[in-house]
Amino acid sequence: MTYVEPLARQVRQDGTMPSADAVQERRLRDLAGLFADRDAEARLLAHDPLVYRVFEAAALPKEDGHLLFSTTVIESGRVGDEYFMTKGHFHARADRAELYYGLGGRGMLLLQTPEGRYEALDMVAGTAAYVPPYWGHRTVNTGEEPFVFLAAYPADAGYDYGTIARDGFAALVVASPDGPRLIANPAYRPTPSDDAR
Ligand SMILES: [Fe+2]
Repeated sequence: MTYVEPLARQVRQDGTMPSADAVQERRLRDLAGLFADRDAEARLLAHDPLVYRVFEAAALPKEDGHLLFSTTVIESGRVGDEYFMTKGHFHARADRAELYYGLGGRGMLLLQTPEGRYEALDMVAGTAAYVPPYWGHRTVNTGEEPFVFLAAYPADAGYDYGTIARDGFAALVVASPDGPRLIANPAYRPTPSDDAR
């Protein structure tokens, strides 16, 4: 394992990290095809709003034994009835877990197994939420303010975005008169896997 010096990063109240080593910005065009209402998505694409930003704390070695950590700031907004959300991913090393900690706003952590069983956890500032190994995960801003959280995960976890981009996510979070509602995604089609899990 590569030896590195200890380090600290300041996280502002709004979730931004001024000394982050990298910032990823995801606009709607980067999430094209992930929202259920394609007409609403096409209309909004004319403005291509900012959906979320990820502040990667430090360029640490992506090796077993290290931890990576980042903050995510999801803007408040919707595509049709569906709230702004992250792309969602499984870990490339699927047996790697992750911990989220809510810093501000209100949201949901959606989780799904490779077979399509899903769970949703409410998150506000102060919520610690655990993503177990093998569960795909996506975060959704269900509030009126930016939804902000810290994530820490094994440095060798990696990303598999392709499975969710291809199959969809098993559940959607949509606005209703009674507030955010979790519904099964009628377009979700899990691809059979040879992996025994
Ligand atoms: Fe993750």
